[in-house]
Parts: sequence; C-alpha cells; structure tokens
Amino acid sequence: MSREQLVELARRTISHARAGTVPQAEAVLEVPATNYFDPGRWRLEMDRIFKRVPLTLGFSGELSEPGDYRAVDVAGVPVLMVRGTDGVARLFVNTCSHRGAQIMEAGTGNTRRFTCPYHAWSYDPEGALVGILDRDEFGEIDTSCHGLTELPCEERAGLIFGGLTPGAELHLDDFLCGYESMLDTLGLADCNVVGRQSVEGPNWKVAYDGYLDFYHLPILHKDTFGPDYSNKAIYDAWGPHQRVTSPDHRILAWADSPEDEWSMRRINSGVWTIFPHISIARFDVDGGPIFMLSQLFPGADPDTSVTTQHFLAPFEPTDEQQQGIEKQMDFLLHVVRDEDYYTGRRIQAALKTGAKSHVMFGRNEAGGQRFHGFVDSLVAAEDDAAYRAVLARSEAVFQP
Ligand code: FES
Ligand SMILES: [Fe+2]
Repeated sequence: MSREQLVELARRTISHARAGTVPQAEAVLEVPATNYFDPGRWRLEMDRIFKRVPLTLGFSGELSEPGDYRAVDVAGVPVLMVRGTDGVARLFVNTCSHRGAQIMEAGTGNTRRFTCPYHAWSYDPEGALVGILDRDEFGEIDTSCHGLTELPCEERAGLIFGGLTPGAELHLDDFLCGYESMLDTLGLADCNVVGRQSVEGPNWKVAYDGYLDFYHLPILHKDTFGPDYSNKAIYDAWGPHQRVTSPDHRILAWADSPEDEWSMRRINSGVWTIFPHISIARFDVDGGPIFMLSQLFPGADPDTSVTTQHFLAPFEPTDEQQQGIEKQMDFLLHVVRDEDYYTGRRIQAALKTGAKSHVMFGRNEAGGQRFHGFVDSLVAAEDDAAYRAVLARSEAVFQP
C-alpha cells in the first residue's frame, strides 16, 4: 500500500521534472512578523503546541534492551525514556518523588535501578519506587503512589512519540493521519544511533521554516550543498506532516527504468518532516545511507531554539566508517550553524525592529504555508475539544 502510494507520487514528480513545472499553492501567504518574537504568542505556542501534541522524542533503536535509557531536557522538561523489563518503552519526568531531585544526568545507559543522587531513593525501569533509604526512620508512605511521574508514550515506525503533559491522551493515530506507514518505509526501527550533536538557533519557527524550504538551497548553500541543487519543491502532506521532494535531474536519472524496478530507496527519497519539530534527511556515506533526524525545540524564550541532530544508520559502522560519519556530521553542523541558523539569527534580529509587518510565503512555498496554517489552528484551539476538532479536520493532501 505504501509502495503503491509512493510510486504514484514519484510518477507525478517525474512528470513535473519532464515538463519543467511545479505545483503551486493558491496564493501568496502573509504571516505577521510578530508571530516570530511576541512573548504572548510564543507562550501560546508552547502551551497549545509543544505541551499538547505528540512529540518525536527518541528512537526504538536506542532503547533496544530492557533497562536502556536516555535522560534529556525537552523544552525545559527533564525527561527519562526507558525500555522496561516487559519490553515497553516509557517516558517519565526525571524527578524524584522525595524532594524533586533530577535522578539521572543527561545521557544514555543501561540500568536495573534508577537511584536518586540526593538521598538514594531508587526506581525500577517501569518507574516503581522500590527503595527508600532508612525506610523505618523516614515514616510510613504508600510506595505504590510514589513512583516516577509517567508521560504518555507510544512507539511507531522506530520512533518514540511522547507528550509533555502527564495523564493527557496522545491521540497519536489522529495526529499521524496514516503518516507512520510512510515513515515505516525508511526502516528507522532497524537503525542504530551513531552520532548526536546540538546547535542553537533562532525562534523555533524561523528555524523550522528552513527545513521546509528548498527555495533557498542553491542560493544560501551555494558553497556547501552546491548551486546545482534544485530550488523547486513538491509538498505532500499527511495532516500537518510533510514530505518534500524535488522534480529535478536526480529523479530523471531513473525515471525511464521499469516501475517494478524502482527501489524503495528511490521512491521514498526527499525530506520527511514530522510536525511540529522534526526533519529527516538521508545522506550517503561509506557503509551505506544514514539518516539525519533534526529535532528542534524552542529555547527558553521566543528568540532561541535548540536543535539536536541525531544520526541513525541501518548498519553497525566499522571504525573507518564511523570516521566518515563524523566527517559528514561536521559538514552538516557547519551547514546548519553557519548558513541556516546564522541567517536565521539575523532574520530574528531584523524582524524585531518592526520594519516589516509581515513575511511572505510564495505559491512555490506551499510547505511553509501549510506549517503556519497548522500552527495558527492549534494556537487558536483553546480547549481539548477544539484541539480534537483540528486533528479531525486533518487529512492527507498531495500536490497535483
Ligand atoms: S530527592 Fe531523591 S531521594 Fe531525596
Ligand atoms: Fe538550509
């Protein structure tokens, strides 16, 4: 089913490449410049997007064994993700029930017990409180009520989705709109994490706009990706999630081969984004293709964001291959830090002058238009019923 759909989309992209055409949005969209820096707006985006929608927080492959964990700060919330002895991946707030200490330092590992560094209370991988120091002296408490605070969590297509609001329902199927069957074709479930690095950037939407934007590729990245990258983009959407492909010479290179010989690798090419903060791109290195999954979170204020680039490989790299991966990581850090986010920080400063009331997304920038449309709908959705209604209206939309 996913193959059929990908083949159909590839046929469409090929016919645009042959004709030298590209589908367009209906009109130019104007977005108020204040959306990128107004503190009230930013607060609403934190509460009604980042605290509400499922976020892509981790990978099945990094929690392959029971007891495998990663502790990480997610938009100011200390999170502990753990594979339980029952094989289930869970998310917890990384805070002790005694007096709130953060239990684990940021990082990864494998353990049977999470022991708090303050007074040594301990928890098992399912989050139960299993050890209290000098229990008789501490006094009577019901340990079954004082486990780690669990966050909603579900695993799909090799990704660990979670929410930052304890007890809230994820509504993951409504949110994904069938996208997981597409993501599944990437094979992320069988990948190892082979590298990770972080980079600070401008307002999260200034940063994210760049991931949906091919228009800038041969211009801003003329010295890195190179000027022969196409600036044309086709956007296919599953609800708020978009895949971006180019009707360029790369697709024409295999367009004339018989369709049943089109490899999955070819037909699922492009950039895969997961709303509101993920972009997945594939690069060739010695050993095979690797994925860079860029995971973006707002920083502590409207003017900042933090992006972690996670590198995933469907193979166990040799030392030599790992060196090649690290070279590619350095290159991609340079591109994002010194080209994309360098430009983004300067955009941020310029927008804040108030010189421009709006920024524009052209008819050739349908991806940015769709992204801002969803951001606006979610910000406008005051309560859970309104949020559910936004999800219920989302559907798959493919550009013609
Ligand atoms: S705060 Fe964790 S044991 Fe005291
Ligand atoms: Fe870029």
